[in-house]
Amino acid sequence: MPVVIPPADPAGLPAPAWLLQILLVFTFILHILAMNLLAGGTTIMAISLRKGKDSPFHAELAKRLSKALPVTMSLTITLGIAPLLFVQVLYGQAFYTASVLMAWPWLSVIALVLLAYYGLYLVQFRPDWLGRWVTTIAWLSAIFILLVGLLYTHNATLTLAPEKWATLYAASAAGLHMNWSEPTLVPRYLHFMVAAFAVCGLGIALLGLLARKRGDSWGEEAVRYGARWFIGATLVQLAVGLWFLFSLPGNFMQSFIGGNMVNTLILWLGVVAAVLAMLMVNRSVLAAVLLTVAAVTLMSITRHTLRQMYLSPHLDVNAIPVNPQWAMFAIFAVLLVIGLAVVGWMVWQFYKSGEPQKATTV
Ligand code: HEM
Repeated sequence: MPVVIPPADPAGLPAPAWLLQILLVFTFILHILAMNLLAGGTTIMAISLRKGKDSPFHAELAKRLSKALPVTMSLTITLGIAPLLFVQVLYGQAFYTASVLMAWPWLSVIALVLLAYYGLYLVQFRPDWLGRWVTTIAWLSAIFILLVGLLYTHNATLTLAPEKWATLYAASAAGLHMNWSEPTLVPRYLHFMVAAFAVCGLGIALLGLLARKRGDSWGEEAVRYGARWFIGATLVQLAVGLWFLFSLPGNFMQSFIGGNMVNTLILWLGVVAAVLAMLMVNRSVLAAVLLTVAAVTLMSITRHTLRQMYLSPHLDVNAIPVNPQWAMFAIFAVLLVIGLAVVGWMVWQFYKSGEPQKATTV
């Protein structure tokens, strides 16, 4: 069957392709960091709710996570919309085709996200009402969130496979296709989800640091517990990452192991940053956070390079005509900066609330 590619949007790109690609990768990094805290956090909360019956440390961790997770969910969704806009505008021909092929599973993302969100709210606000079902509801939210991630990986890998589209559509137009036959699917998905536990471990260590500053003895154990998740998951990631790399088509893999110096350097600097973060986390959580953000950034650039490799024989974003809409773009840029400033302010307030209370005289 020949490769069939839908035509590009005749409206063209609203800004140069290079600028849209930078914004796509930047906003994807923000989305994926929030997603990591959400996916890892919900699962760890479910584990802690169970363990909390015998351990005051876990009972407290579950309580604190239950307060943070609904906000993390809304951040994940909001920060997902920005890369969604850029993916649609740059790779719409591929992204929409994949979405049509897997229409029903893809639409189920909305239901799964809503149900997971309700679950998180119930665990936060109605734990007494849920009684012994609270752990089950937390697990259901965790499973739904992990499923959403899996559906995203199905979509992302199907987007990168133009040679499959016509055959799949000819086989059935019912919108029920998935991408199970794809050899990179499982390692790619695990690569994201194992990272979620590592990043969330760091988040717990940070919560611990804040509590320790406040003189709260829970903090000491939280720093150690979070660091253990971070180190354990990053060790697993070394194996999963290699699996993912070796599951790639030979010529793509070659390009990351010396075939192309820039690609090789970006990927392996990311790995070095993650290993350094693992070595540093017991000495300085903040250094580990900075190194991890660097690792996620380098990995996200690698992911984008890989997408270009897969799609370049069929689609070239740099060849799509550009009809700049600078006024729209300026509005977007201003709102993005304001939005990020508000999130930064929220995080700062949260951080300040962890500082020891200053003595006041009446
Ligand atoms: C709440 C649960 C969510 C989880 C667990 C999740 C997870 C993921 C994962 C794992 C990927 C990477 C897939 C891959 O490359 O293999 C991804 C990509 C993406 N997500 Fe999410 N996501 C969630 C919600 C959302 C929502 C609600 C939106 C949009 C409003 C969104 C927008 C995106 C976009 C646009 C990408 C692809 C960006 C690109 O290709 O560069 N996500 N997500």
